[in-house]
Amino acid sequence: MPRQRLKSAQNVSPSKVRPIVIVGAGNMGGALARGLIAKGLGGKLIVVDPALALGNARRYRAAGVTAVKSATDLAATKPRALIFAIKPQLMQTVVPDYAPAARSALIISIAAGTTSERLATWLGAGAAIVRAMPNLPAAIGKGISAAFATPQVAPAQRALAERVLRAVGEVIWLEREELIDSVTAVSGSGPAYVFLLVEALAKAGVAVGLPPETALKLARKTVEGAGAFLAERQEAAEDLRRAVTSPGGTTEAALRILMSERGLEPLLRAAVLAATARGRELGK
Ligand SMILES: NC(=O)c1ccc[n+]([C@@H]2O[C@H](COP(=O)([O-])OP(=O)(O)OC[C@H]3O[C@@H](n4cnc5c(N)ncnc54)[C@H](OP(=O)(O)O)[C@@H]3O)[C@@H](O)[C@H]2O)c1
Repeated sequence: MPRQRLKSAQNVSPSKVRPIVIVGAGNMGGALARGLIAKGLGGKLIVVDPALALGNARRYRAAGVTAVKSATDLAATKPRALIFAIKPQLMQTVVPDYAPAARSALIISIAAGTTSERLATWLGAGAAIVRAMPNLPAAIGKGISAAFATPQVAPAQRALAERVLRAVGEVIWLEREELIDSVTAVSGSGPAYVFLLVEALAKAGVAVGLPPETALKLARKTVEGAGAFLAERQEAAEDLRRAVTSPGGTTEAALRILMSERGLEPLLRAAVLAATARGRELGK
């Protein structure tokens, strides 16, 4: 969709209810905004994005959300929470502009690789910061976020962060910030691994004679169906796998390959290690 600039920024007028501000209304910021609107919080929401598509700006306004272009439009505002959902490489230039608005606000950053220490250098040493890592299914309310709270985060702020993240799925809390890189490697990047599984399964189907479109449909629906099945059942994945594997049957023949010494497990371990290492590098 071609992006048209908003005609002009609206200055935000002070209001009794301290708003939640989302900086960056792209894939993830947009998902958070939609989730919060669905929870009835649209009227307490401000999104900041310099190039918000006109259609999106209209949709936000219709939901009671205030859409503005930059930190300067927040001059009169004392946000309850300030959520950074911009690309990691922009954080260094954009975040310092929010230092005035950040005073007494809960900071939630979903930017990969930007540590709470760096955020505090831009926003002030006393900043109450939650770093969170959601994932792509957040866009349909089925994400999983892992979050870490610095000691400055008060219990009520932690509860607020959880409410915000719950608007797009489930939340788990981490005791150590460095585990965010591990989370990024497992659930942050994980949807891409599952999409690759669909591609690889479809190619394998073609190799055993299926027409490509048929193979792709079978692979896609299998992953979708298995995911939905897993979501509905209480059993562990391992138990579900065992239940579907008859001794001497076809599934067992395949799993003998997938569970071999050079099978899926070591391959995924190497992939997750590589992603974790890259996350650490990006954070430097
Ligand atoms: N996507 C995911 O699955 C995912 C998962 C976990 C975490 N994250 C994290 O979430 C963050 C955002 O990712 P994304 O995929 O949502 O990126 P995105 O779609 O590019 O969204 C970022 C948005 O911020 C806007 N923006 C640029 N400069 C800005 C400024 N100065 N003030 C306010 N907004 C500004 C961008 O506009 P322009 O496009 O015009 O530049 C864009 O609309 C990243 O830090 C990423 O690490 C993403």
